[in-house]
This record gives sequence, structure tokens and C-alpha cells, in this order.
Amino acid sequence: MKQIQKSADLQQAVHEAKEKGLQIGLVPTMGALHEGHLSLIERALKENDLVVVSLFVNPIQFNNKEDLEKYPRTIEADLELIQGLIGRVKAKATELLAFTPSVEEMYPDGEPTEIVYHFGPVEEVMEGPRRPGHFNGVAVVVRRLFDLAQPTRAYFGEKDYQQIAIIRALLEQIKYPIELVACPIVRADDGLALSSRNKRLSPAARQMAPAINATLEQAAEMAEYEEVDDVKEWVLDTLSSWHEVNDCGEGLKFEPEYFEIVDARTLQPIADWDEAGDLGAVGCIAVWLDGVRLIDIVKF
Ligand code: PAF
Repeated sequence: MKQIQKSADLQQAVHEAKEKGLQIGLVPTMGALHEGHLSLIERALKENDLVVVSLFVNPIQFNNKEDLEKYPRTIEADLELIQGLIGRVKAKATELLAFTPSVEEMYPDGEPTEIVYHFGPVEEVMEGPRRPGHFNGVAVVVRRLFDLAQPTRAYFGEKDYQQIAIIRALLEQIKYPIELVACPIVRADDGLALSSRNKRLSPAARQMAPAINATLEQAAEMAEYEEVDDVKEWVLDTLSSWHEVNDCGEGLKFEPEYFEIVDARTLQPIADWDEAGDLGAVGCIAVWLDGVRLIDIVKF
């Protein structure tokens, strides 16, 4: 593994790889790596000759300043995790570049506020209106990473389901010949989707959090015989009425922000299971627990 901090050095390494006809896999991350990220890196190592993992906390995708400040920055530990993974995986790739640029390196002319993407309906639902500017910030940084790393394939986790639809739309707009590889969610043994935010949960909240996935799994079973609206209502009611008490005797509860059942490609809500297109239907949830916003999905 080689750590690269300068964009020019990454471009040089990519140029040399391209000259040799190598295939490049890109795994964009914001660091604070967990097994979910490692599964993306592992897959990239198996499918490409050279892997670029970016670790960059992208300020322009945070619509909440406090969230940006609180975001864990654990570069040294992240690099050790990657190094450990390289030792474990039977890789096709012969090299991994960990790209860890500063904000100035990534945005040498300052934060690019003038770049505005329009993705249409996929950005107008769920996370879009609740986190204004978020997907634009994601698209800007991902495009910059695409330009620098010129990947054959780019790897993203399905936990951020809407983000994948946005990247798909971005690729359609910019017409880069990059294969978008959507990878399944990695879960803890108790079912909680792995996320860097899980660390912020108190022990009592952490114990309660797997109920999100358990409820979604039950919803998938209900979908066999219940209408879309009934499944939606049941999920929201089940989580909203769930109460537990933490070690300090304080009540803990789920506060769902949304649960939508949508077409898995267009992300538009469906009213009937038959309305789902080629990718089927997916349920996407955002729920607050103990001051932490958790997201998860279930495929129907
Ligand atoms: O999913 C993330 O961690 C980020 O949104 C991404 C894709 C690395 C862009 O900053």
C-alpha cells in the first residue's frame, strides 16, 4: 500500500497504470473505515489490477456544520485496517493507493460552489429535500475522484441507496465509461447495518438499534401478502411505538424521519408492488435514535 496526498502524484500513478493497460478500481470513502468499507475494498482488489481508495471528509456534502465537525477522522487506524486487509485477501490487484488529500488539494480553487448538478426526480425524494446540497456535494467530489483516478470500476455501498442512484445519474450525464458496482450492506451479527455513526450510540441505544433491521426484515415477509401502504404504516408504527429505558432510567425511542417504499431504479414511491420496474422495490428508512440518524434499506 502506498499513501498519496497530492492529486498530481495520483494522476501520475494512474497515467502509468493506463499506459500498461491496467484496470483501476476506485473505492471512494470518507475514512472512519469499518467492515462495510473493507468489503468494498476487498471486492475492488479481486476485480482490478490497481485499486485507489480515497479517504477524504468532503466538507461540501455536509449540510450541517456540527455533523462535519463531529465526523471521525482516523486516518492512521484506517491505513492500518487497509494494510491488514491486503494481507488477508487473495487479490488480483498488485497495488493499492490510499489517496488522502487535504481540502486544499482536493479543491485548489476553493470550495466549488458554482457547480450545480440537476438529477431530477431521484434527488427530489427522501434524503434530497432533507439534506439540501448534500447530493450536489457528493456528485462534485465523486466526479473529481473519477477525473483523478479514471477508474474502470467504482464501488459504493448499498446502505446509501439513494447515493448510488445519484452516481448512476451522474455517470449518465457525464458519460464516463465507468462501471458502477453496488455492493450489499454489511451488518453486525445482530443485524445493524455497519456505519461510522454507530459508534455515537450509547450502549443502550446500540442494543436497541438492531430492531430497525428486524422490523424491515419482517416487513419484507409481510410484503408477500400485504399492500404497500399497509407495510409502510406497520413499519412506522412498530418503530414509533418501541420504547426502552437506558441505564440512566431515561426513555429511548425511535423517531422515524421517513420510510418509503420506492422503485429501486427511479426511487419514486410506488403504491402497488406491480409498479416496481426491473430492479424491483426497495424500502428506505431514516430514523433517529439517541440523537443519531441511522439509515437502512430492505429489498422487496
Ligand atoms: O459514501 C460516502 O462515504 C461519501 O458520500 C463519498 C461517496 C465517499 C463521497 O464523499
